[in-house]
Amino acid sequence: MRNKLPVKGIFLDRDGTIIEDRGHLKSIEDVHFYPDTFESLRALQKEFILFIVTNQSGVSKGIIKKEDADRINSFINSRLLEKGIKIAEIYTCYHQKSDNCECIKPKSFFPKIAAAEFGISLQESWSAGDHLHDVDFGYNFGGRGVYLLTGHGAKHFEELKNSEEKLYFKSSPFKNLKDASSYILQESKNIPKEYITAQTAAEIIRDGGIVGIPTETVYGLASDALNETAVLKIFEAKKRPHFDPLIVHGSSIDNLRPLIKEFPKKAELLAKKFWPGPLTLVLPRTSIVPDIVTAGLETVAVRVPSHPVARKIIELSGLNVAAPSANPFGEISPTCASHVLSQLGDKIDGIVDGGKASVGIESTIIGCVNNEYVLLRPGGISREDIEEITGKLLINDNSELITAPGTMKRHYSPNTNMILQNHTDPLPEDFQDYKKVGRLTYGSTFYNDCEIELNLSPAGDLKDAAVNLYHYMRKLDKMNLELIIADRVPQSGLGAGINDRLSRAASRD
Ligand code: TXA
Ligand code: MG
Repeated sequence: MRNKLPVKGIFLDRDGTIIEDRGHLKSIEDVHFYPDTFESLRALQKEFILFIVTNQSGVSKGIIKKEDADRINSFINSRLLEKGIKIAEIYTCYHQKSDNCECIKPKSFFPKIAAAEFGISLQESWSAGDHLHDVDFGYNFGGRGVYLLTGHGAKHFEELKNSEEKLYFKSSPFKNLKDASSYILQESKNIPKEYITAQTAAEIIRDGGIVGIPTETVYGLASDALNETAVLKIFEAKKRPHFDPLIVHGSSIDNLRPLIKEFPKKAELLAKKFWPGPLTLVLPRTSIVPDIVTAGLETVAVRVPSHPVARKIIELSGLNVAAPSANPFGEISPTCASHVLSQLGDKIDGIVDGGKASVGIESTIIGCVNNEYVLLRPGGISREDIEEITGKLLINDNSELITAPGTMKRHYSPNTNMILQNHTDPLPEDFQDYKKVGRLTYGSTFYNDCEIELNLSPAGDLKDAAVNLYHYMRKLDKMNLELIIADRVPQSGLGAGINDRLSRAASRD
C-alpha cells in the first residue's frame, strides 16, 4: 500500500501568535487567545498539519518551572480541541540561547523530527510568528516563514529591515494570524507528485527501487545496498562511472557491522564520537557487500547519518542503504528536495522532502586500513576534530593503500565558467572582456564591480558558508553569467571542505 501522501505542516509560534504574549506565562489564567486564532487555525488545518513550536527560555533562566510551561501547553491543546482544532504536537525548547542547544528556534530540529514522525514535506511547509527567529525558522528548515505584527511583532519589526534576501519582505508583515493564514492558504501549492513519505520510501527501497532522501549533508539517491540490480539503477540514473564506489548508510554501528571485516580501534572511536553525523569511514569489507557498491575494492565506505528522516527511512526499511549524492554525476550536489526534483525527478521512484540540509557539504571521508588513517575527502567534520583521535592524518595523494576513486578534479560543477582566487588577488587580466560577472564571496569582502555578489557568510561563519555553498552556486549558475569569480574561504575547520568543493567546481580538467 503506497497511498500515504506527504502532508504540509505549519509550525506556529505560541506566545504572541496564537495567544497573547504576557511575558513568561506561569498559570492558565494568563492564557488569552487572540480573537481570530480559532477561525484561522480551523481554516489552516484543512490543508496543513498544525504544530506549535515554542521557545520557553524562562525555564532555563529559572523564571518558570518546566511543569508550568507544560501545563500551559496542555491547557492550550485542550482548549483548541474543544474548538475542533487538532495540534499534532507541541514542541517546546526549554533552553536559552547561551545553552547552545539544538532545539531552539530558528534551528530546524523540531520540524525535522516532525518530518520523520508525521511524513511532513518541509519545503511545502511554513512557520509563523511574531519574531524574526520565527520567520528565519521557516527558511532554515527549507520552507517559508511569515511575520506577524501581533505580540512583540510590531516592536521587533525593525530587525527585519536588515535581512534583504528574505522573501518575506514581499509578503509580510501581517497584522494578525487571520491575514497570514489566508496568504499561506493562497500561496501554498500542491505537493509535487514525486514527493513521498519516509514510509513509502522505505517500501520502495525494500522493493528494489531508488529514491531521493534527505541527509544532513546533501540529499542522497538511495537503494538497498545489498541488491545489485537496485544499486545498478543508481549508477544509471546518475550516469555515474562504475569505478566510483558508493557509501553505505546504516542506522547504527551495529547495523553496519555485518559489512565490516575489521574495525580498527581508532576507527571505532571515530564512529562512536561522530556518528550519527557527517563522517564516512572506509573499512575492510566482508563478502556480503556486492562488488558494484565498492567498485571491486576490498574496502567499503560506511556512514550513519543524523538527519531524523534519513534515520527513519533506514530503520523502516530494515536494510543498509547505498546512497551517493542525488545529482547527475559531476553536477552540483542537492541540498533540498526541489534540487533533486529538477535534476533527477523523472529518473527515480520518488523523493522524500526533509527540508534544507543543515550541514550543506558532503561527509568527511576517512580511510582506515592497516593502521593508516587517510583524509580521502574533507567535509562536514573538520580534520582538526578527527586528528584529535587519529593523530596526524595522511592525505589522499600520499597514501599507497587507499585512494578515493570518485574524487575527480572536476566535480560539483556549475555550467558557468568559474575561477577560484584569494580575495587579495588582482582582477583576472581579461576581466573587462566579460560582460556579466558574478562573485561568490565570504566575510566582510565587498567588491562592487560586477553584476551580482553573493556572500557565503558576511559574518565570516564557516558553518553558514557550508550551508549556503551549493545553494549560491546554483543561484549564480542560473543567472546566465559569463564568469563566476569565487573567493577561497579560510582553510581551517569546515573551510577545507568548502575550498575543496570550490576548487573542483572551478577545475577544467
Ligand atoms: O555526505 C555524503 O557522504 C553524501 C550523503 C548522501 O551521505 N554522499 C556522498 O556520496 O557524498 P558520493 O557518492 O557523492 O561520494 C562518495 C565517495 C566516492 O566518490 C568515493 O570517492 C568514496 O566516497 N568512496 C566510496 N567507497 C570507497 C572506498 N571503498 N574506498 C575509497 N573511497 C570510497
Ligand atoms: Mg512569540
